Amino acid sequence: MATTKLLLADLVSGVNHVPSSYIRPISDRPNLHDVQLSDGSIPLIDLQGLYGPNHSDIIKEIGQACRNDGFFQVYIYIYIYVCFMFIIPLISHLLTYNITFGSERMKNYSDDPAKSVRLSTSFNVKTEKVSNWRDFLRLHCYPLEEYVNEWPSDPPSFRKDVAEYCTSARGLVLRLLEAISESLGLERSYIDKALNKHGQHMALNYYPPCPQPELTYGLPGHTDPNLITVLLQDDVPGLQVLRNGKWVAVNPIPNTFVVNIGDQIQVLSNDRYKSVIHRAVVNRNKERISIPTFYCPSPDAMIGPAEELIDKDHPAIYRTFSYSEYYQKFWNRGLATETCFDMFKASAT
Ligand code: OGA
Ligand code: NI
Repeated sequence: MATTKLLLADLVSGVNHVPSSYIRPISDRPNLHDVQLSDGSIPLIDLQGLYGPNHSDIIKEIGQACRNDGFFQVYIYIYIYVCFMFIIPLISHLLTYNITFGSERMKNYSDDPAKSVRLSTSFNVKTEKVSNWRDFLRLHCYPLEEYVNEWPSDPPSFRKDVAEYCTSARGLVLRLLEAISESLGLERSYIDKALNKHGQHMALNYYPPCPQPELTYGLPGHTDPNLITVLLQDDVPGLQVLRNGKWVAVNPIPNTFVVNIGDQIQVLSNDRYKSVIHRAVVNRNKERISIPTFYCPSPDAMIGPAEELIDKDHPAIYRTFSYSEYYQKFWNRGLATETCFDMFKASAT
């Protein structure tokens, strides 16, 4: 098969310059010296008390974080064992083994974003002009029984362990969705019901070391097209968030997840909550692994601003659309623009 150089992992060993197809124009480079450290500016919320006497304080904290920051970090004890003792080493093994040698790798390689299991590289190689310094495996994971048998079976524990992680991550998301609905003054189950049958995808992002990290991105600035994203990352920095026009590094804090509001919560909340632009930069000497869980409506769900959040002073900012329409537009534009909201504004119809 003539597929040996499809992945970045195949290309990078021994390379000491970034190949020209990965080099950004000067006006669109990361300016790494101009990035701030988050230093506590991204809220850290302890969810352990969510169902105790501090319930309303935590709901308030979550509401504030969604309104002002779009990003927050959560600490939740129950998930720690599963996530950190277990998943990161497993995924590292999977990526280094499978991306590099695995028997199944080329069986899973695909550039078609509609595939429910796919190994690929960059963002969308069919539409983008400049490549990104990333390989990834993307899996659909809800409902689990529909997808788990399509996942890689190498290493043998992969399906069982990742399924367990997906179930835990979904449990965390469902709690967050109740809290977010409540913080908007909506019924607790409002967002849950708006998603129709729900969907969940997961990416295993692998960012190899890069000889010239100042010339390229792991992922350029974008907002997430889904509802909400819960990110598990290893201990290597790379995630950055745009805040008041400045890039802020969200460096890993042990035992926490990074949560960010996606485009669909911005739409449902009629712009009260923000889907914030973020990016991943790469490192000269270290590889980085990140594992986002993208929680989403099912493709047929119709999404629009909640009736309760529309009034004379807050007219509907978006039209109603199916999630599949939004998702297709997101992938087709190749991250050429940072968000796709403009195509879904009520005023654009
Ligand atoms: C993404 C993303 C950030 C990261 O996959 O959408 O924003 O740190 N990832 O890998
Ligand atoms: Ni993202």
